[in-house]
Amino acid sequence: MIRKQPVSLTINGNAVGPVDVPLGMPMIDFLHDYLNLTGTRFSCGQGICHACTVVVDEEDGTTSEMRTCIYGAHLFNGKSITTIEGQARRDENGEVVELTPVQQAFIDHFAFQCGYCTPGFVAAATVFLDGLKHAPVRRAELEGAISAAFENHICRCTGYVRYFEAVREVALATPGYVVD
Ligand code: FES
Ligand code: FES
Repeated sequence: MIRKQPVSLTINGNAVGPVDVPLGMPMIDFLHDYLNLTGTRFSCGQGICHACTVVVDEEDGTTSEMRTCIYGAHLFNGKSITTIEGQARRDENGEVVELTPVQQAFIDHFAFQCGYCTPGFVAAATVFLDGLKHAPVRRAELEGAISAAFENHICRCTGYVRYFEAVREVALATPGYVVD
């Protein structure tokens, strides 16, 4: 018999649950199969590529990344997360009315090719830029900081340079994120 336990959390600003979920079910399966939030990508399934990353809202107002292929749905109990579906602003019909600066910059820079890794890169860039909001980086350290933010994310189409350029542009264009 499959044992289940309830999971409750906040996803994209909406309360979800309690939902009875099989013990051990990966979070990405919960997102895909229970909630029809299929934008989070399953790739390696082993915690290596970070394609499956979502943003976790921390209690102190910061954000962090969390992979959903290697962590079970129950580990997310009580958390507040943002998936790729929750990044852009939408109207009451669910239509996208405004992309985030990161999403727009990725498009402007033709940063992705197949796009499979993109939700994970959007999550990484979002957490990186949120971090700059709390702790600005010196201009001379910006390149290294972007490298560190993306170093765990794999793009099999090798779009790294353009992802990098897009995030640099957003960081430099946002007042207070980069200091001299
Ligand atoms: S699919 Fe989760 S790290 Fe690769
Ligand atoms: S754009 Fe294809 S894997 Fe990154």
